[in-house]
Amino acid sequence: MCGIIGCIGRGERTLETLVHGLEKLEYRGYDSAGIGLSGETLEICKTAGDIADLRAALDSQSLTGGSGIGHTRWSTHGPPTDANAHPHLDCTDSVAVVHNGIIENYRSLRDQLRADGHTFDSETDTEVVPHLIESGLNAEQSPEDAFRSAISDLEGSYAIAAIIEGADGLFVARNDSPLVVGLGDGATTESEGGEFFIASDVPAFREFTDRVIYLEDGEFARLDDGLTVTDHTGEQLSKEVHTIEWSAEQTGKSGYDHFMLKEIYEQPRALRQCLRGRVEEQTATVDIGALETLSPPSVQFVACGTSYHAALYGAQLFRDAGVPAQAFLASEFATAVPPIQSDLVIGISQSGETADTLSALREANRRGANTLAVTNTVGSTMDRECDHTLYIRSGPEIGVAATKTFAGQLAAVNLLTLATVEESQSKRTVLPALRELPGDVQYVLDSSDAEEVAEHYGNSKSYFFIGRGYQFPVALEGALKLKEISYEHAEGFAAGELKHGPLALVDSETPVFALVVGDGEKARKTVGNIKEVQARGAPVVAVTDEKSDAHRYADHVLHIPENTPRTAAILTNVQLQLVAYHIANQLGRSIDKPRNLAKSVTVE
Ligand code: F6R
Repeated sequence: MCGIIGCIGRGERTLETLVHGLEKLEYRGYDSAGIGLSGETLEICKTAGDIADLRAALDSQSLTGGSGIGHTRWSTHGPPTDANAHPHLDCTDSVAVVHNGIIENYRSLRDQLRADGHTFDSETDTEVVPHLIESGLNAEQSPEDAFRSAISDLEGSYAIAAIIEGADGLFVARNDSPLVVGLGDGATTESEGGEFFIASDVPAFREFTDRVIYLEDGEFARLDDGLTVTDHTGEQLSKEVHTIEWSAEQTGKSGYDHFMLKEIYEQPRALRQCLRGRVEEQTATVDIGALETLSPPSVQFVACGTSYHAALYGAQLFRDAGVPAQAFLASEFATAVPPIQSDLVIGISQSGETADTLSALREANRRGANTLAVTNTVGSTMDRECDHTLYIRSGPEIGVAATKTFAGQLAAVNLLTLATVEESQSKRTVLPALRELPGDVQYVLDSSDAEEVAEHYGNSKSYFFIGRGYQFPVALEGALKLKEISYEHAEGFAAGELKHGPLALVDSETPVFALVVGDGEKARKTVGNIKEVQARGAPVVAVTDEKSDAHRYADHVLHIPENTPRTAAILTNVQLQLVAYHIANQLGRSIDKPRNLAKSVTVE
């Protein structure tokens, strides 16, 4: 989704800071980019394509100025063209605006502005904003008043930053789209002077500061030789300064070819971080603070994509502990059984900003339910709007495909059920298994034959993934991971469902990845399903431990160490992440930024 960066106080380094910030936001997904600088004059440079194209365009233009804004655009209104890229200008080229989100009433605003004589250069919803500001300036409003009154005309979601010729600094506003302010060298909430940043996400400016302020919906900020944050009435607000706990290096590739591979290999550390200080094996206790007092009569999960798979897994954990629980795709939550007052609605989201999940959680709030965000992003909208938050502590995830955050989500929902609804008997079994997990993941990473399996099957027509119980969400996740980064067809199924239809598609060019853990009933039945597909000529890759006898029937085996069936889901998933990565890599795909996808999906 679109990304915003802005800065002031960086002197001659302003332009490079902005371009570099945009590079740091590339992971969000985009198809065009642009920069605007304001100094003695206001100038912009923008282009369809990637940041390398923007750099090339900047080579033939000399942009100078001490305050600036930059933007990566992910098209929603109009195709990715130079004209539709941000910043957008008013009729006099003296107001430049970047925007993330959707302005729902832009058509009526544009019609009105056109009737007033304004001309438009793009198909975007955003372009109404500089023209609205221009109208205010024409009506002799101060730049700040013109900005505020333009924002008050907007309906929809936005993080907006503007520069105005002749007015110092940046004007920013937020509603339903993330926006964070960074306090750099010499800057405090009270300072006169210093370096200030704004961005959609902290990695854009993390190397310059670890001190941030999160803007809330309805808030405005002006950054010039100081920072002023105000509410919609203009009243000045005093904002808390937060410290970011991860380093700028954690947002680099550290020698890996892709962020995705680095993040797959970071899973042992991410899991340790998730569990650290929360698990006490000797006393069989789990410490997740005040959340422990939750004892919901029933639970509903809402989430999208990979996080939805974590939600399916979480719902099963609750059900196995005797608490009725369901997982809903957030975009379908409207059809859910309405939660009642004491129900718990849990939104799982890596970013904490996914529009569908946010809107489901807001609906749950309206219905009076207790809401909990399970997220990786401290200060995200879900974190701030939900009644409770459980952080997964995976560290920044840059690759668009979620990997280490899925592992973190599964670990976190284990902590949640253990702390709130599970008996001490299961704690005594699961806590040692959780302790073993980071080491077991490391073992899988060190010994995996996934690359060989990927070489063997990498040209197949289609790929199936099957699993039962806790392995069913992993089968869905394995298929999603493969299809999103390889662009090849892949489907995940509950192993028992194959015979009810999908078996018709199975042939010798359809490798079936069967997830089989332990020697219980589910494992035995899945071995039965392996035989079914083999009878139809399909090659089988068993992702399995020593306890199961699946390896005896499979054409290839990806081993995992023995663990409890529920925690083994994280281990089988690591093997499937590696298979997806290597198949996509062999096909030469754009692994970190797959086509048509975005890291943070802030539209419904
Ligand atoms: C797939 C992927 C997406 C996200 C989904 C929800 O690899 O990353 O399916 O899981 O867009 O995003 P979050 O977790 O940020 O709510």
